[in-house]
Amino acid sequence: KTIYLKDYQAPDYLIDETHLTFELFEDHTLVHAQLVMRRNPEKAAGDKGTLPPLVLDGQQLELLALALDDVALTPADYQLSASHLTLQPKVASFVIDSSVRIHPESNTALEGLYKSGSMFCTQCEAEGFRKITYYLDRPDVMSKFTTTLSGEQHKYPVLLSNGNLLASGQEEGGRHWATWEDPFKKPAYLFALVAGDLWCVEDSFTTMSQRPVTLRIYVEPENIDKCQHAMDSLKKSMKWDEEVYGREYDLDIFMIVAVNDFNMGAMENKGLNIFNSSCVLAKAETATDAAHQRVEGVVAHEYFHNWSGNRVTCRDWFQLSLKEGFTVFRDAEFSADMNSRTVKRIEDVAFLRTNQFAEDAGPMAHPVRPDSFIEISNFYTLTVYEKGAEVLRMIHTLLGAETFRKGSDLYFARHDGQAVTCDDFVKAMEDASGLDLTQFKRWYTQAGTPRLAVSEQYDAAANTYSLTFRQSCPATPGQSEKLPFVIPVELGLLDGQGADLPLRLVGEDTAQGTTRVLSVTKAEQTFTFEGLAAKPLPSLLRGFSAPVKLSFPYDRDQLMFLMQHDSDGFNRWEAGQQLAVQVLQELIGQQQRGEALLLDQRLVAALRSVLEDEALDQAMVAEMLSLPSEAYLTEISEEADVDAIHAAREFARAELAQALFDPLWKRYQANREASRQQPYVAEAGHFARRSLQNIALSYLMLAHRSEVLVACLEQFDACDNMTERLTALAVLVNSAHAEERDKALTAFAEHFKDNPLVMDQWFSVQAASALPGGLERVRQLMEHPLFSIKNPNKVRALIGAFAGQNLVNFHQMDGSGYRFLADIVISLNALNPQIASRQLAPLTRWRKYDAARQALMKAELERILASGELSSDVYEVVSKSLA
Ligand code: ARG
Ligand code: ZN
Repeated sequence: KTIYLKDYQAPDYLIDETHLTFELFEDHTLVHAQLVMRRNPEKAAGDKGTLPPLVLDGQQLELLALALDDVALTPADYQLSASHLTLQPKVASFVIDSSVRIHPESNTALEGLYKSGSMFCTQCEAEGFRKITYYLDRPDVMSKFTTTLSGEQHKYPVLLSNGNLLASGQEEGGRHWATWEDPFKKPAYLFALVAGDLWCVEDSFTTMSQRPVTLRIYVEPENIDKCQHAMDSLKKSMKWDEEVYGREYDLDIFMIVAVNDFNMGAMENKGLNIFNSSCVLAKAETATDAAHQRVEGVVAHEYFHNWSGNRVTCRDWFQLSLKEGFTVFRDAEFSADMNSRTVKRIEDVAFLRTNQFAEDAGPMAHPVRPDSFIEISNFYTLTVYEKGAEVLRMIHTLLGAETFRKGSDLYFARHDGQAVTCDDFVKAMEDASGLDLTQFKRWYTQAGTPRLAVSEQYDAAANTYSLTFRQSCPATPGQSEKLPFVIPVELGLLDGQGADLPLRLVGEDTAQGTTRVLSVTKAEQTFTFEGLAAKPLPSLLRGFSAPVKLSFPYDRDQLMFLMQHDSDGFNRWEAGQQLAVQVLQELIGQQQRGEALLLDQRLVAALRSVLEDEALDQAMVAEMLSLPSEAYLTEISEEADVDAIHAAREFARAELAQALFDPLWKRYQANREASRQQPYVAEAGHFARRSLQNIALSYLMLAHRSEVLVACLEQFDACDNMTERLTALAVLVNSAHAEERDKALTAFAEHFKDNPLVMDQWFSVQAASALPGGLERVRQLMEHPLFSIKNPNKVRALIGAFAGQNLVNFHQMDGSGYRFLADIVISLNALNPQIASRQLAPLTRWRKYDAARQALMKAELERILASGELSSDVYEVVSKSLA
């Protein structure tokens, strides 16, 4: 059933207070809910003695008792269906009491109340609370919650819920209980409960108004040594949100709990964030630099939700980007401030262009604010999150930091305690700035990635230089015509020495800086600069100021020039990527025509000068050495030739390794030596050093020199951290050194077999290896005793890495990869619909491939569709992909 935004209606009833009691047992849980309710006054105007029926959401609940104002109801008094409980109130204010039995112990969907290992935990966003009790499970119904939970004391010594602990005590029979009270009204999706045998690391934070806050991170006892990085990240986040947004924490305690079985990254439940352990646990020996940065980013993200999401929440789920786009933008800026701003931007843009652009070009394309959905879980997407964050970044760019802050202050002040819409957010920004953002709001309503084609014209007689912008946007499902977007284009103009020229538009008296933002608002628009004695070279879309596909007819020499001189670090990298794309596309063509492959030596020269530039941030050197991924080359192809893309890219890597062996080896050795000298630190300078060391190693291995193998084995054995060790392992796994590879894999597994997160990495590097026989390896790894299809992290590590990253193996011409993935989706559909639906993504990209592969991929989608009872999650993605 499709739900439409246009059908939104305010709730008929409100729930002022919610009092919950959970009795946790091994084979069932009892949930008692007391709801203090009243008629929504907003809707009461037309009531003449008759009230509308009360329709409560509820799924997979066994109703044991129901009372209205203390009077027990019998089945004649209400209607029960698989998804609702309907009854007829007689007065405008009343109290509902219900008791239900549920089965967290057999909940494999990991939605609602479930068990992860021996612990009880919850995931309620978006619509999981209805699997816990009968309720108005919608974000615009906000209530004050008290929660009592009881369980066996020795199995569940720790009992947690939202807010502050009110009381606790013992019961007969070895049981105990605790009561928590959350003073802030919240929607049910922010409810959380945890019971388990957990240890915690405790710290404290004093807020800007001098209020002390207790900080606790709860983990299983064996992980107590892996919490410090998350705790440091939390304190930095709290400080940053005070300084940058003026937002202060509001409860006496803030808790994070790490769980091993979790569908997503983490969840911002009020005062009790629940995290996938992969986004909390980090220490040098077991987590890579990337994992450390992910922990920092996700801890910040969930913490920032306390304001952007919890204090001000969403009116309905179509508004999801109101909290997610904003919060991703906030966490990205936080990470940029904590580490390298340019490197963070490069990573985010590469990710967006590879993955969100592909989503925007596929059958599930939807606007940042969707108009309709079948299953809301399918809309926790790259478009809502990452593109949504780009929309916020553009508002920030158009308003400037100071005005944007006025707008966010106004938004929080105006809507504190409310459930609001994206329009409300934009309105606050308009009111603070005086700008009219009506046209800008098309970013929320139109799907698809805009194209921005730029051409130049230099008039030597008039000393003027014009740039003409032509924007368009391809059709997406349900949207054939698009209106022009507001596209902020940050740009500069370089002179022959590579310096930024002062920028003066026709009609301006004086130049306004050397980098500025033009607003492109029409389908075609020309801007003319004056006072240019020679033709400049434009640096366009600096910092990737808008999520568009920009094209400008740069030649390779111009790109090399920008790579060396652009004052915008992001665009230096971007010029290198464009150069590499041109060179790789040439190789792909040669490969397809059966010609000998010939690498343009300008790419070699460009990367040599990057490598020899000792002044350049080493993380930038590493980013610039990274060739565009196969997935990105696929995304920008009209029709992707998987095998030619792989062959061309591997050829280029091998050629670069030979040609640049000496500078790569020099930088590798210097950095490996530094790693030997200085123990691991999780900070930007060290990340940078290791990232260059590791990309150098991955190139060097392609040169087939014995000293590199020796160095790789030394790094694998002797390093003190997972970043170096995992890279060495991955390099061996992708090499022809079968004996060393098998030895390393065995040694690694022996050493880390008790650490599931590390073993996830071990599964992933093997699943992603492009060596022949990939599917067979993955099938064998699925039989490994440490693999479990019920654990989302394991599914992502093995199946996700295979289908998403190992493109040559997944897209084997015989269709075996597709068949395999469809079988997995069919099994997962019954166990965990959210994970099933997410693993489907690679099959939905069928339009990118040749006719033979398209037919095979569609046949597997058809097979899934015909396979029996499908969850709404899988049904929506499969049916839309075939439409
Ligand atoms: N709000 C969470 C976050 O972004 C994600 C929850 C996703 N839940 C889901 N069922 N898709 O931090
Ligand atoms: Zn979020």
